[in-house]
Amino acid sequence: MEERLKELKEEALQLVEKAANLKELNGIRVSYLGKKGPITEVLKGMGKLSPEERPKMGALANEVRDTIAKAIENKQAVLEEEEVQRKLAAEKIDVTLPGRPVKVGNAHPLIRIIEEIEDLFIGMGYTVAEGPEVETDYYNFEALNLPKGHPARDMQDSFYITEDILMRTHTSPMQARVMEKNKGKGPVKIIVPGKVYRRDNDDATHSHQFTQIEGLVVDENIRLSDLKGTLEVFAKKIFGEDREIRLRPSFFPFTEPSVEMDISCKICGGDGCSVCKGTGWIEILGAGMVHPNVLEMSGYDPKKYTGFAFGMGPERIAMLKYGIDDIRHFYTNDIRFLKQFSVHE
Ligand code: PHE
Repeated sequence: MEERLKELKEEALQLVEKAANLKELNGIRVSYLGKKGPITEVLKGMGKLSPEERPKMGALANEVRDTIAKAIENKQAVLEEEEVQRKLAAEKIDVTLPGRPVKVGNAHPLIRIIEEIEDLFIGMGYTVAEGPEVETDYYNFEALNLPKGHPARDMQDSFYITEDILMRTHTSPMQARVMEKNKGKGPVKIIVPGKVYRRDNDDATHSHQFTQIEGLVVDENIRLSDLKGTLEVFAKKIFGEDREIRLRPSFFPFTEPSVEMDISCKICGGDGCSVCKGTGWIEILGAGMVHPNVLEMSGYDPKKYTGFAFGMGPERIAMLKYGIDDIRHFYTNDIRFLKQFSVHE
C-alpha cells in the first residue's frame, strides 16, 4: 500500500509538472484528489492492515494528498501568471500611434453674420423676436398699410397657400404682431431675424428664399435722426469705422418718410468702380419712420408715439463684407465655399 501511494504521488507530480494549461491542471486535481480518485481507492484497503500500521498509512496518505495539492497550487499560480502575460502582450496598445483627426464643423457664414448683427443690436438694448414664416395676408400686407389691390404689393410677388395665407415676403409683419401684443404701450425695441420668400427666379443676386433682419423702435419722441444714428453705428461696426452712410428718399407703404441707406464703397473709396456701378455708394437697406396708419392699426396712438423701422438682407451684407459674388453659394452648401469661413484652420 505504501508503494502504491508513493507511485501515485510521483505520477501526479509528473503530470502536474507537464500540465500546459489551467484546464489540464484542473483535470489532474479532479482525478487525483477527488472522492472517486485513486488515493481514496487505496485507502479503502485500510481495513486489512494491522492496528499499528493504520495510523502510519493514514499519515502517509495525507502527506501524499497535501504534496499533490501544494504542487497543483504552485503550478496554478505559474499558469495564471503566464496567462496574464499572454493577454497583456496580445492587447498591447501603441500609445505612440498618431490619432485620427476629428473633423470639426463650423457655423454657416450666413448664421455668423446674422449672429454678429444680433449681438450688435442686443448691445444697444434691443431684444430678438421671431415670427411665423407662414403668414396671413393681414399681417404681411394689410396691417402694413398695403390694402388688397394696392399696386405696391407687386414689389413683393409671393407664394400663396390660400387666398389669405402666404409665405411671408418680408419680416415686417412682425412689426404689426409685436405692437398689437404690446396693446398700445411703448416702448418697443426689437430686431427680427428670419427667412422670407418671394416669387423670384434664382440668379446671382436673387433667391426665392432668403433672410432678413427687421428692426423696430417705437416710443415717444423717436425721430429720423435716431434712425440715422442707429444705422450709422450699425454700418461702421459691420463694415468698418471708415465707412460713410447716406440716406436717400425712397418709398415703402408702411414708412413715411421712407429712405434707403447706402454705404460708401470700400473698393474705390468713393471715386466710382464696377462694384458700386460708378456711384461711389452701395445700397444696404430700406428704412423709415413708422407710418401713422401702421401705428394706429396695431393699437398705438400716432399723436403720442412715433417710431422707426428698418429691414436688411444678411445675404447682401455678407456678400459685400466677404466679397461673395453669388447669393446661391449660401444655399448650395459646397463644402469648399463653407470651408473658407472656417474659424478652425
Ligand atoms: N420690408 C421691406 C422690404 O422687404 C424693408 C423695410 C423694412 C423697409 C422696414 C422699411 C422699413 O423691402
